[in-house]
Amino acid sequence: MIRRSVLLGTGSALPRRAVSNAELAETVDTSDEWIVERTGIRNRHIASDDETTATLAIDASRRALEAAGIDASEIGLIVLATATPDQTFPATATKVQAALGINDCVAFDVAAVCSGFLYAVSVADAMIRAGTASKALVIGSETFSRIMDWEDRTTCVLFGDGAGAVVLGAEESEDGARGILASKLHADGRHNAMLYVDGGVSTTGTVGKLRMKGKEVFRHAVVNLAAVMGETLAEIGLTAADVDWVVPHQANARILDATARKLNLPAEKVVMTVDRHANTSAASVPLALDVAVRDGRVKPGDLVVLEAMGGGFTWGACVLRV
Ligand code: UT7
Repeated sequence: MIRRSVLLGTGSALPRRAVSNAELAETVDTSDEWIVERTGIRNRHIASDDETTATLAIDASRRALEAAGIDASEIGLIVLATATPDQTFPATATKVQAALGINDCVAFDVAAVCSGFLYAVSVADAMIRAGTASKALVIGSETFSRIMDWEDRTTCVLFGDGAGAVVLGAEESEDGARGILASKLHADGRHNAMLYVDGGVSTTGTVGKLRMKGKEVFRHAVVNLAAVMGETLAEIGLTAADVDWVVPHQANARILDATARKLNLPAEKVVMTVDRHANTSAASVPLALDVAVRDGRVKPGDLVVLEAMGGGFTWGACVLRV
């Protein structure tokens, strides 16, 4: 028998307030035309004061549990990926746990910025296969609006807030055909200065603002994402031709297009939500996955590849049979 982590349900949540490019252009020296042409972004959601990384994560988690048809009390593990936690500590995962009324389970955050959800899924999968838990909530939730320099047009037009969550459950089967089949993670800290926040607890004592060398990040993203997808598929003897859907990190439509081209993947197989959500960092992959599951594109039996790249640099991919 093979024990695997299977996808039981997905959920997502967005802040109430949607902000169009035109609205941003009222306060920032930019235009709808520039943003759409260079990034594909048309809209993003921005959290109000009463909406936080935890509240978004809680809403997304409730929807994922409902979709999975399981009670919160069955969850034995919560892994939450974020670079914008509600507080320095405790982990935002424990706030989700408390709100869901789970009195005892394993709960912690992981920090791998835009690749955070891939790291979280990989860790949760390993813990499920090891027997630590049989049902897990894996969440990506962010409020990047709180670390934006709203006077820096090269970054503030690119990001948005939101959360996505999945419920994973252990399943034992003869063939192990369903569930997470392979995942690969990478990090290369030589590139810290390409994408970072200029503040922190033990340096400035401030929260800081996001800084990015966009062109450099773009170049590395296309190369690293195509490579890690190929590497992850190859580990289980598959190629891009076997893939039904790619659910990528939603940073820039041009990165998604260029990466798909490198792998000879038709654009119709790539789930794209960057136009409506912008870059929501660790939330972007589970948010896009939830959209594609709910609109009927991703169906049971489909082979799906998740991938992301972000600050660090960190990057990774995961192949699962839904
Ligand atoms: O999630 C983590 C991963 N992050 C990413 O993957 C982001 C990767 N990078 C990118 O998506 C792109 O590099 C950007 C969208 C950030 C920038 O696109 P680009 O085609 O590389 O543009 P650029 O930085 O070369 O800027 C071109 C011009 C510049 O003007 P000059 O120097 O040519 O006169 C910028 O000042 O566009 C100007 N510009 C803007 N103009 C209007 C930069 N930002 C804006 C703006 N509105 N918001």
